[in-house]
Amino acid sequence: MTTAARSDYLPFTRPTIDDETIAGVAEVLRSGWITTGPQVAKFEAQLSAYCGGRPVRVFNSGTCTMEIALRIAGIGPGDEVITTPLTWVATSNVILAVGAKPVFVDINPITRTIDLDRVEAAVTKATKAILPVDLAGLPVDRTRLYEIAKRHHLRVIEDAAQAFGSTWRGQPIGSIGDFVSFSFHANKNITCIEGGALVLNNEAEARLAEQYRLQGVTRSGRDGMDVNLVGGKFNLTDVAARVGLGQLPRLAEFTAARRTLAEAYFECFAAFAADDLGLQLPVVDFATSNWHMFQVVLPEQHLRVKRAEVMEHLHAAGIGTGVHYPAIHLFSLYRRHGWKDGDFPHAEYAGRNILTLPLFPTMTRDDVKRVVTTLVAILKQFRA
Ligand SMILES: Cc1ncc(COP(=O)(O)O)c(C=O)c1O
Repeated sequence: MTTAARSDYLPFTRPTIDDETIAGVAEVLRSGWITTGPQVAKFEAQLSAYCGGRPVRVFNSGTCTMEIALRIAGIGPGDEVITTPLTWVATSNVILAVGAKPVFVDINPITRTIDLDRVEAAVTKATKAILPVDLAGLPVDRTRLYEIAKRHHLRVIEDAAQAFGSTWRGQPIGSIGDFVSFSFHANKNITCIEGGALVLNNEAEARLAEQYRLQGVTRSGRDGMDVNLVGGKFNLTDVAARVGLGQLPRLAEFTAARRTLAEAYFECFAAFAADDLGLQLPVVDFATSNWHMFQVVLPEQHLRVKRAEVMEHLHAAGIGTGVHYPAIHLFSLYRRHGWKDGDFPHAEYAGRNILTLPLFPTMTRDDVKRVVTTLVAILKQFRA
């Protein structure tokens, strides 16, 4: 049976777009102004209010946001940027794109984010920045991160693509820190289909961000135009911004629903004694995480099959899963730069065995139970 044919197929994620937003998009489409305009300005203002009044600029992806932050920080050839090997490859690709060198630091296997205990050993004279990633929405310890950055005079570009709605010590991610980059890709906790936002430190940085966003252009008066740097074509459309504006007011509700479902996962896994099977669950965090994903790490040593086969059986049972992510340093491009198997054992283990289970606001407790019972049955069936 194909995925499309099953009415009860549970995808690993699904956006929630309400009718009011759909009507709002139709209005924008009829308005005569569909690319960057008033909706983008309104989206930026509302994001800025959410980020404690800091300057925010929106873009057409959460990838270009990070590349632009690196450019604003003046990072380029000869510079090193410390980051994690367990993330979407965009995180390190942007470092290569500006001509700098990614320096990977292994993850902490419990949090699955960059191991801050190992960061300082990776700092050299060439290090200019740290680019941490809040995998699955679990924030990297901001207090320790900024202590390290301050001690070594480093910029921080927070890849908070997955952490919109997460907090640190009660403050929203984005309202504190140096550069903060968000993604509003379709799978994120709030979406504008494709898009991103960069939180900046001051108006001078915001003006540079605007230049990098659109061909390096600056305007003055009625007809004045100049170009003094090479920018790109990274502007967001008003249609996309209107989707984002419909999502923002629902953030708290979405986050609460995700937390409730995450709690249900923990309860169900405990009830089915998943610990005995060697399955690693995520950190139990109901204070800071936005629960962008619920990820388990399969017990490789206790299984006769690999992850792909577990995914296939879940799929056959009508359950979608995802892999976020394979370890970056083992991709061909990165191997060509000299990385190899064994460089970052924790990231490699997670990269081979991590599995994203379904989690989205309109899911039910019964859906969670179905995922857990099915997964536990598969793990028992293929136990080594
Ligand atoms: C951790 C991380 N970084 C960066 C990105 C890039 O965002 P975008 O797809 O909006 O370019 C994503 C999106 O999937 C992500 O999850």
